[in-house]
Amino acid sequence: MKKIDYKIIGFNHCEFYVGNAKQTAHYYQTTMGFELIAYRGLETGVRDRVSYVLNQNKIYLVITSPLQKNTPIGSHIDIHGDGIKDVSFTVDDSELAWRTSIDRGATSALEPIEIKDDDGEAVISAIQTFGHTIHTFVERKNYKGIFLPGFQISKNSNSTLSGLVHIDHIVGNQPDGEMKKVCDFYEKVFNWHRFWTVDDKDINTKYSSLRSIVMANDNEKIKMPINEPADGIKKSQIQEFIDYYETAGIQHLAFSTKDIITTVKLMRKNGVEFLPTPDTYYERLTDRVGPIDEDINVLSQLGILVDSDENGYMLQIFTKPLQDRPTLFFEIIQRKGSNSFGKGNFKALFESIEREQQKRGNL
Ligand code: FE2
Repeated sequence: MKKIDYKIIGFNHCEFYVGNAKQTAHYYQTTMGFELIAYRGLETGVRDRVSYVLNQNKIYLVITSPLQKNTPIGSHIDIHGDGIKDVSFTVDDSELAWRTSIDRGATSALEPIEIKDDDGEAVISAIQTFGHTIHTFVERKNYKGIFLPGFQISKNSNSTLSGLVHIDHIVGNQPDGEMKKVCDFYEKVFNWHRFWTVDDKDINTKYSSLRSIVMANDNEKIKMPINEPADGIKKSQIQEFIDYYETAGIQHLAFSTKDIITTVKLMRKNGVEFLPTPDTYYERLTDRVGPIDEDINVLSQLGILVDSDENGYMLQIFTKPLQDRPTLFFEIIQRKGSNSFGKGNFKALFESIEREQQKRGNL
């Protein structure tokens, strides 16, 4: 019987297009504890690009640079700076995922193609989403190799694992007025639902404001908050992203951990820069979130934020942008019951972000 529906199982990987993949890959290994597991480049017979595959538990990052001039990768870097090109999903049927998406109005980025090597085969295909970002559908048929066909095992044991477990969510920033359209796209193409929304009445500081809708798939393993700037007295941080990324794009990846204190301590020691949190944030913390297991003095020393809802609480912290353009950054999150996205932290956080924007002369 012909299959009529396919399943998105979870995030497969994120592919970054960067100017110097070797150094970027080194950064994620030495500061965030990722391990290099696979490689593709001149040594494996690929002439136009090089890719390093980094892994920690269920998180896979692919760091890619062009090896020639006038490539789509080079042009992506010219427009956006270093950034995320591909948010890839693991699916049970790549061709069906692609065909269904196209039938529902998506634009193709790659027609289904079977790739193979000695370890088996896989099918990949891709569609366009916001900006120049794409979603690749990865179907590992009988593939038993390290990542995907065409990559060679490349072991590097210099990393100290930092306790990152999986991708909790991936956020896309949109220009003003585009958020609803993008959410409608995910609803129409993937049948995703609105998991959580927040408007500019909830998230605003004196200057900056945003609206956000979290889109989720049916098993809610995929969560993609979609943001747009809202008017404030000064420029929204979402607008600053759009100005420097030039189009819509991926703003941050949130990595989960089971022990945020250990993870953040290690990352800080390794040189990861986090957004500072004002001391005053911790003075009223217990009143706001109720009793928590962690020592508030330790959270304060590390700058970790806390928010709660009716199901429990969560701890989170944000890095500064990871490249010179104020675009992509990371979030580290530990959930203790709460499925929220830290609404109560937005104001404290935005005030902190705005101080950084001020230093860059962009507020
Ligand atoms: Fe987030």
